[in-house]
Amino acid sequence: MPGPVRWLVHPAAKPILFILLILPLVQLALAAVGDRLGPNPAEALIRSTGDWTLRLLCLSLAVTPFRVLTGWAALARFRRMVGLFAFAHGAVHLLCYALFDMGGELPDILQDIVRRPFILVGSLALLLLLPLALTSLDRAVRWLGGRRWRALHRLVYLAAPLAVLHFFWMRAGKNDFAEVAVYAAVLASLLGWRIVWHARQRQAARPADAGSARV
Ligand code: HEM
Repeated sequence: MPGPVRWLVHPAAKPILFILLILPLVQLALAAVGDRLGPNPAEALIRSTGDWTLRLLCLSLAVTPFRVLTGWAALARFRRMVGLFAFAHGAVHLLCYALFDMGGELPDILQDIVRRPFILVGSLALLLLLPLALTSLDRAVRWLGGRRWRALHRLVYLAAPLAVLHFFWMRAGKNDFAEVAVYAAVLASLLGWRIVWHARQRQAARPADAGSARV
């Protein structure tokens, strides 16, 4: 077994990944407790959790291309955990906004969602990720059936561009697009790769289908 693959199937690989993925939240919580979030703690909390949601969303979408390109099939074991942590960071992002920006007032939050398009788009992105997080257990895969589960999980291809649009809209007010452009380029590459990959897979399957139809 090649070196990296041996590490990927090691029993400690998942716990190590878990620790790495929870680290941003732990660091943020420690900074909050130690009063080290800077002059605007609410903004620091919302921005940091927003950044990590987007990073982990991109990382979860990068697992399959990286698996296919390297041939390291064991990488597939980690996709679900990365996706769940993207959602968890998104949920904390929403919670920080609701509590520290809006004072936990539900009517104000709902009004703000409708009033500010970038908040609406962010909410849609997170809402689309919710069924993915809820159906991430093996039991849900069995209950839904592989085909329906895969179809449902394609919602991530809608959620991710909406998340980038949310970021773009937020930064548009400040005319600051450098970071947004990086995320947009990464996401476009990942989604573009997938379109090409699926097209090739369909093409590769076609002669076999035609052959089996003749039998
Ligand atoms: C998948 C869902 C989401 C992603 C990926 C996401 C990502 C982000 C990112 C990257 C930022 C900018 C951080 C920075 O400037 O460094 C941000 C800002 C923000 N997000 Fe989200 N977000 C999501 C959902 C939401 C939701 C559901 C809400 C509220 C209902 C929300 C409210 C905000 C607010 C208020 C800011 C701006 C904070 C400020 O002006 O300082 N986001 N988000």
